[in-house]
Amino acid sequence: MPATHDRLRALYAQKPVVLAPMEDVTDAVFRRLCRTLGATIAMTEFVNVEGLLRGCKNARRKLALADDDELTAVQIYGANPERLAEAARVAESAEPLFLDINCGCWVPKIAGRGAGAGWLREPEAMVAMARLVVQSVSLPVTVKTRIGLGPESHMPIVDLARRLEDAGVAAITVHCRTAQMGHSGAADWAWAARARAAVSIPVLVNGDVRTAEDARRAIDETGCEGVMVGRRAIEHPWIFREARALLDRGEALPPPTEAERIALCREHLVANVAQRGEPFGVHCTRRHLSGYLKGLPGAASLRQRLNHCDTLEGCCAILEEAAYQVTSWSSVTPSARSMTSGDRPSSAIAPDHAPQG
Ligand SMILES: Cc1cc2nc3c(=O)[nH]c(=O)nc-3n(C[C@H](O)[C@H](O)[C@H](O)COP(=O)(O)O)c2cc1C
Repeated sequence: MPATHDRLRALYAQKPVVLAPMEDVTDAVFRRLCRTLGATIAMTEFVNVEGLLRGCKNARRKLALADDDELTAVQIYGANPERLAEAARVAESAEPLFLDINCGCWVPKIAGRGAGAGWLREPEAMVAMARLVVQSVSLPVTVKTRIGLGPESHMPIVDLARRLEDAGVAAITVHCRTAQMGHSGAADWAWAARARAAVSIPVLVNGDVRTAEDARRAIDETGCEGVMVGRRAIEHPWIFREARALLDRGEALPPPTEAERIALCREHLVANVAQRGEPFGVHCTRRHLSGYLKGLPGAASLRQRLNHCDTLEGCCAILEEAAYQVTSWSSVTPSARSMTSGDRPSSAIAPDHAPQG
């Protein structure tokens, strides 16, 4: 068995907490940040096989792995088995940890054309496609899919998991919603448990893992090797270190400090601007900032000011001011704090309702 397969098995033996593939989110900068905070494995955004085979710029950007991306997997999607196999060979040249095939995207323009969750309409064809991709590359190939198409249909996931294992797939991620549910409604982890019981390859449970306690419960309840975290990581990437501490040492970590929250905003902005320039690097960080700043006094007005600022320098100045005010606030004794209205100093970051300076 090639070393890469052994490596993957070793990683799956560590109760991995994996950063989910997310379009426009899991680029090299965010992957690094999550890895630093404890993500075991990170996934790229999904790469369209036609774009990849045509050499289109966006596909090339998504495929480009950074020097520290050695624990990153590339996810590809497409509707044609031969094109998927061909694209898998191209993706293999980027030397990812493994390749993942997206069989779960519910977006109509993708699933409606037979890619992503569209494969769930024909489980047999999905298995044949996976077999072809596995045979076309030497890297391990995994599949990320959903429990089924819709509530009215039979849930194929358990039988599918068995057949994917038989096709040589190295591991499966089960997003415990149907394609029809999109991202709404509760994920039903019981399906991951059933799939896990049916196979001997590792299974990751995905959907609604929002806290370290969720991660522990998902693993305990399903018997899965690990969890995959999507949306929560966008606003709270500290979930990786919190989950690691709980899974490895039974320790419940305190939430990040205000200073850490501000520092992460700055770090993410700086890295995105270095990677993508201004103003795009600033704009694409915005979706993270409100989550990072959650709980800070005056967070809403801070967020509003950041949302209206297009330059790195301007954003850093706003954050510096916030950091200064947080520091002065934390140096105020509790008794002095209680004398100020609303438990916050009059000089603190502009309260949410205050006019902007
Ligand atoms: C903005 C966004 C982009 C996503 N892009 C992808 C993708 O490229 N490939 C994929 O397999 N899933 C994608 N997903 C789905 C997630 O990987 C994950 O399966 C889903 O969000 C459920 O996990 P969660 O409840 O932890 O968010 C995306 C989800 C979001 C919110």
